[in-house]
Amino acid sequence: MRIIVFLGAPGAGKGTAAAAVAKKTGARHVSTGAMLRDALARETPAGLEAKSYMESGGLVPDEVLCKMIAELLAETPKDATLFFDGFPRNEAQAAALDKLAAEAGATVDLALCIDVAKDALLARLGGRRVCPKCGAGYHVVSLPPKKEGVCDACGAELITRLDDQPATIAHRLEVYEQVTAPVVGWYERAGKLRRVDGSGSADEVAALVEAAVR
Ligand code: AP5
Repeated sequence: MRIIVFLGAPGAGKGTAAAAVAKKTGARHVSTGAMLRDALARETPAGLEAKSYMESGGLVPDEVLCKMIAELLAETPKDATLFFDGFPRNEAQAAALDKLAAEAGATVDLALCIDVAKDALLARLGGRRVCPKCGAGYHVVSLPPKKEGVCDACGAELITRLDDQPATIAHRLEVYEQVTAPVVGWYERAGKLRRVDGSGSADEVAALVEAAVR
């Protein structure tokens, strides 16, 4: 099993690039944010525990995430490639991932950090719309749906994520700088880091990511 970790600030385009390249390469896109949002919608114990942290833009406790990842690795076929988007998010989670991967006979092969300037992050998060039914992501300017407010894939009405409100975005960016950015150094020290310029269009960034993961 190959694990490739996608790093980058909120709004850098981790989910957009991981989903596009997973579709082309047959890898599995694992978004811990999407898993938590799904758990919350289904009101599972993990989802209910995560609720207040997610709504404020803080990090959900490590135990909740590590349990989710351990379960996922246990059920993943040995020949799979996983794109982790949103995990690990602090150094404790990075250490836990190394341990869980080793137990599953897997390795973290590569960590891709998608670099985007702060003004672009704010524009991307402010204009993001998501489909609550199938999880497809859009942007009002850079990636609009064919019909305004309606998901191209399943026809559901698009929504703005609860944590895409300006005050929550600001808090998420602070949490990223203080707690998650050090994970980039973790993988750099391990000799596994590749940086990708995330300033181009979604197609351009996906092409850079695809070249890096091949
Ligand atoms: P999560 O869902 O992981 O949110 P995030 O890390 O803040 O990342 P985003 O999804 O906001 O950004 P992204 O980089 O994926 O950008 P996207 O591709 O959507 O986590 C949410 C919450 O869950 C956390 O705050 C936390 O509470 C909890 N959580 C999750 N994992 C956790 C963990 N491991 N530990 C603890 N807590 C955890 O793109 C953004 C927008 O830009 C879109 O509209 C898109 O269309 C557009 N766009 C993308 N690429 C481009 C481009 N190249 N050009 C123009 N527009 C683009």
